[in-house]
Amino acid sequence: MRNFQGRRIKKSYIYYPVTKKIIINGSIFILTLFVLVIVYKCKNPTRESDYFNPNVLATHFNGERFVGSTTCMECHADIYTTHLETAHFKSSAIANAGNVKGSFEEGSNMLDLRDVAFEMKTNKDSLYQHTTLKNRSLKKPPSKFDIVIGSGVKGQSYLTWENDALYQMQVSYYTPSNEWVNSPSFPNYDYSRPIGDACLKCHMTFAANQNTSKQRNTFDKDRMVYGIDCERCHRPGEKHVVYHRNNPDAKEAKYMLRLQDLPRQQRLDACAQCHSGLRNELLKGSPFSYLTGEVLSEYSRNNDTLTSNQNLDVHGNQYGLLSSSECFKQSATLDCNTCHDPHKNQRGNSNYFNSKCIGCHDVNKSRCTAEAIVQNKMQNNCIACHMPTIASKAMQVQLIKDSLETSFYVRSHLIGVYAKEQWEN
Ligand code: HEC
Ligand code: HEC
Ligand code: HEC
Ligand code: HEC
Ligand code: HEC
Ligand code: HEC
Ligand code: HEC
Repeated sequence: MRNFQGRRIKKSYIYYPVTKKIIINGSIFILTLFVLVIVYKCKNPTRESDYFNPNVLATHFNGERFVGSTTCMECHADIYTTHLETAHFKSSAIANAGNVKGSFEEGSNMLDLRDVAFEMKTNKDSLYQHTTLKNRSLKKPPSKFDIVIGSGVKGQSYLTWENDALYQMQVSYYTPSNEWVNSPSFPNYDYSRPIGDACLKCHMTFAANQNTSKQRNTFDKDRMVYGIDCERCHRPGEKHVVYHRNNPDAKEAKYMLRLQDLPRQQRLDACAQCHSGLRNELLKGSPFSYLTGEVLSEYSRNNDTLTSNQNLDVHGNQYGLLSSSECFKQSATLDCNTCHDPHKNQRGNSNYFNSKCIGCHDVNKSRCTAEAIVQNKMQNNCIACHMPTIASKAMQVQLIKDSLETSFYVRSHLIGVYAKEQWEN
């Protein structure tokens, strides 16, 4: 080594050992720090950064990310708690012994049809449908109950995975008679019933179709968001959560659509995406592309636009029926939320619904008063006469005993004057 004058110098003159010491000590220090950080991180799992980066359940096609209602709980506890009791939240879930309503007890765990019989059995924590084909020696492997569709107010259907492909099972559950039934539109034994977006779009918050099969029934299992959760109506909420967790004092909502302020049609669209018929004709994207706040008619429409609203089936088309009613046509503000609180289970709360009718109608002044109400004990139940339940022609199931199709009864949203025979009693 040479000094600046080019003279050769001894190594010791340039304090080499000191530099070396610094390097060695420094390395030990950095290494120790590194180990300490790792030990700390293992002992204290990344709590804080988890809190500011909530777990993402799925990413929508537009890049917005779903974080699930458990994330909303800390700041919207009241809404969160009542939401858990709604048919919406319970409308789909991973199947378990607690949410499958049909019985697995011997004696009531059978469905006996003409060509085939089913027996429902549990094995450890899993639930299975065992199939016996009559007059055939062929043995079918049991199908596992993987996903529940339907809260069970009226009934449930079940789905099973075969690898990444989703199929509907042959047995369903019918609440009015508390028994296993043949799944709707499954007249005969039919082993394979692929389930695609067209079924899931109304019963789940989000599902990512992989489009890898001809039958369009392959999904990314890790990106399914079960139940009709907050973010299906309010859009994916990651940004909102991150903002408010970082700004706990902020009183005004950020990165969250105000549904209250949308024009009437978009407010209706938020519900109509699932309550206005099948809307099988896609105009844009996939069935999960539309998000609240957008214009639904740009995304999808019903195939049979020729059917008049009066002939619409009561199942799944509350929007079509309501918008054909005089209450809707002759008022500027009436929408689904005039009568429904989307965060609560209000089934059977007739006082609440009556108060909504009376809010617009002075019964004492209308022709309703005299005859109709006096002769009937149901004066406090406007809907029994003006929104009666009607048998659905679209949704029917086959019960075990008689092989006739039995209808689901659904409350009509065509508000009007009905014949006495149609009144509920
Ligand atoms: C860290 C707290 C926090 C979390 C977590 C949180 N929010 Fe909020 N949110 C707020 C605050 C603060 C407001 C504004 C005050 C209010 O309306 O309650 C708000 C308002 C809202 C509003 C009303 C918007 C408006 O302008 O009227 C909606 C809808 C909403 N949040 C949905 C959600 C959803 C869905 C989730 C879960 C994905 C969620 N929030 C999670 C803090 C939070
Ligand atoms: C993602 C699709 C979807 C959206 C969006 C949606 N619903 Fe529903 N709704 C359903 C399904 C599916 C059911 C049946 C749930 C079940 O019983 O499994 C249902 C059930 C209901 C019920 C009956 C609840 C009960 O106790 O049986 C009411 C009332 C209702 N929805 C109103 C609304 C309103 C109002 C909106 C808009 C603010 C809305 N829905 C948005 C799909 C949806
Ligand atoms: C079926 C659709 C639907 C679901 C599911 C839903 N909301 Fe809402 N939410 C609405 C609608 C519609 C409004 C606007 C109501 C109005 O017009 O007054 C609203 C309003 C709100 C508001 C502001 C007004 C208020 O009542 O404070 C908050 C906050 C909110 N929702 C949070 C949530 C959270 C959190 C969840 C899940 C735990 C949730 N919502 C689930 C449809 C829904
Ligand atoms: C266009 C939206 C839509 C599609 C698609 C749809 N459903 Fe539904 N489903 C509803 C609505 C809305 C209700 C409840 C209210 C009604 O009957 O109008 C419902 C009710 C149900 C119920 C009864 C739940 C209960 O207890 O109240 C079951 C079970 C069910 N659907 C299963 C299915 C299956 C299985 C598929 C796919 C093969 C499917 N649905 C496709 C909207 C839909
Ligand atoms: C937002 C206000 C509003 C609400 C809420 C409302 N209505 Fe109406 N309703 C009207 C208007 C406006 C008309 C048309 C003028 C009239 O007949 O009074 C109407 C018409 C009617 C008619 C006559 C229908 C026809 O075909 O001639 C009946 C019956 C009726 N409403 C019953 C009800 C019942 C029952 C409820 C509660 C489930 C209800 N309305 C809720 C505003 C409303
Ligand atoms: C004028 C009041 C009113 C309006 C507006 C209204 N509903 Fe309803 N809805 C009711 C009543 C009353 C019931 C019966 C509740 C019960 O069974 O206790 C009901 C029941 C329902 C059910 C369950 C039907 C069944 O038989 O299982 C669904 C789904 C529903 N409403 C959706 C909607 C949607 C979507 C809209 C907007 C397009 C809407 N409703 C607008 C009053 C209304
Ligand atoms: C027992 C059945 C029954 C009950 C309960 C009932 N109505 Fe009526 N309502 C009728 C009949 C029938 C008519 C038609 C009367 C006629 O045209 O002479 C009618 C007519 C009406 C009309 C239309 C009147 C007009 O001016 O055209 C309204 C609005 C109305 N009812 C509202 C209500 C409200 C609000 C309630 C609940 C507080 C209610 N009804 C309870 C049977 C009933």
